[in-house]
Amino acid sequence: MSAKTITIAQQKGGAGKTTLAAQLGVALAQAGRRIGMIDVDPQGSLARWYEVRKTLVAADGAGITCIHASGWRLSGELDRLRRNADLVLIDSPPHAETDVRIAVRAADLILVPMQPSPMDLWATGATLEAARKEKTRAMMVFNRTPARGKLVDAVRRKIDELEVPVAATVLGNRVAFASSMMEGRGVVETAPRHVAAKEIRALADEIAATLL
Ligand SMILES: Nc1ncnc2c1ncn2[C@@H]1O[C@H](COP(=O)(O)OP(=O)(O)O)[C@@H](O)[C@H]1O
Ligand SMILES: [Mg+2]
Repeated sequence: MSAKTITIAQQKGGAGKTTLAAQLGVALAQAGRRIGMIDVDPQGSLARWYEVRKTLVAADGAGITCIHASGWRLSGELDRLRRNADLVLIDSPPHAETDVRIAVRAADLILVPMQPSPMDLWATGATLEAARKEKTRAMMVFNRTPARGKLVDAVRRKIDELEVPVAATVLGNRVAFASSMMEGRGVVETAPRHVAAKEIRALADEIAATLL
């Protein structure tokens, strides 16, 4: 059976796409799933993280295979990964290019990370439109969310108007996400009891329940 595919997309840079790809991938791998990842972003941050992982954690990626592919190679590499994994995560670049269209078309679910700000909300338009066109399910994920604030509620109300589901799990603004990635790991590996690890495990469970 071919693996399910999740594409993480959002036009705005810095929304947390790469962070989400790595952290979710590690959490799902820890739950026993074979994870494939494709870094479609020419910047290659996820692929860099994976190089560190192979050096510092395990030469085989400890449950994760990650490749850096774009353009004409993308479809072939995606098929190959899908045959050998339980779940494939695609990290996409911040612009709606051909590669992002392919990644959106190939996905069973589009995850759209956004910080609770008007700029992030406005930037979701193109991604959600692409998902609608391809009839692919989309789900927003609040990232770097302050502990409490009227802004989060206001942004939530706006999303309700768009009729796009929002993950019940909200990710806070946590340095632990970035510091684990420095070591080629995810926070569930470096600080399993940290609130950041609890958040990412809850999100992974939520996604697995929707998709797997
Ligand atoms: N939940 C979070 N808490 C703290 N920092 C975060 C969080 N999510 C992302 N970051 C930081 O924000 C920056 C941009 O994140 P990144 O995942 O690279 O976004 P994108 O891939 O969408 O451009 C990085 O420095 C990352 O460490
Ligand atoms: Mg990125």
